[in-house]
Amino acid sequence: MKILVATEKPFAAVAVEGIKEEAQAAGHEVVLLERYTDKQQLLDAVADADAMIVRSDKITPDVLDAAKNMKIIVRAGAGYDSIDTAHAKEKNIVVENTPGQNSNAVAELVFGLLVYAMRNFYNGKPGRELKTKKLGILAFGNVGRNVARVAMGFGMQVYAYDEYCPKDVIESAGVHAVASRDSLFKSCDIVTLHIPANAETKQSIGYDVVNQMGKGAVLINTARKEVIDEPGLLKLMSERDDLKYITDIMPDADAEFRKFEGRYFSTPKKIGAQTAEANINAGIAAVKQINAYFKDGDTRFQVNK
Ligand code: 3PG
Repeated sequence: MKILVATEKPFAAVAVEGIKEEAQAAGHEVVLLERYTDKQQLLDAVADADAMIVRSDKITPDVLDAAKNMKIIVRAGAGYDSIDTAHAKEKNIVVENTPGQNSNAVAELVFGLLVYAMRNFYNGKPGRELKTKKLGILAFGNVGRNVARVAMGFGMQVYAYDEYCPKDVIESAGVHAVASRDSLFKSCDIVTLHIPANAETKQSIGYDVVNQMGKGAVLINTARKEVIDEPGLLKLMSERDDLKYITDIMPDADAEFRKFEGRYFSTPKKIGAQTAEANINAGIAAVKQINAYFKDGDTRFQVNK
């Protein structure tokens, strides 16, 4: 079988080597399409591929239609909002993700960004410490759980809200489970977002939600830009000069956010999962899932059942 690795933002070379070794050991061939700049390159590359590994690459209906032999697409990572899963289902293409494989990398970045923001972007002025601050984790999935673990090392008070995660699971991690999203925002000094981007969450974090936070609030987003109501957050930042927004996903309105100098920071390109370790974990998990699918029809990680 031909496995295409199509990554606009490439994996670390060591991860690519690992993917090739795993695929070849199972009798498959790997074709690489990295750093493509033109959609036509992707359309051409998918034409004769049987399987595909992607990251946040946009797998739209035209890509799926061009992929005549495609049987399985594995998103090496957590969020699969970049793939038209319904259209893939219509075409009998299995879509999977690799949950948990890059979550530590994202969680570590949360604290890299957070310390940077709390220390005034290293401008030399007195900042604030994380110890004893109340950290609110919105969604207690794989990233949220890793964030909680690291936060405890900093001596933070950790709170979480997750509509879909049982309270006892949150509490068994030593985290205070709060009853609603609003109480999380009301009670925490810092809120970190770990919700997926879907119909329910898109533009869900805006003026009213964030305005519930107390003075000196910090909002961190390493999830998706789509979950932010950008006009609402911009309005709030213009009214509240105590509020900081730091993100790993550049907002569409980056230029407007930049006006809030000293209170806003975005990485130029999403780097949460951009570590050798995360690339190896997610990349190898992806190819193993493809091998298992071709060998035994294993669809354990399918997200478009
Ligand atoms: C994910 O959903 O797994 C993360 O956002 C990482 O995405 P990336 O592979 O595009 O870096």
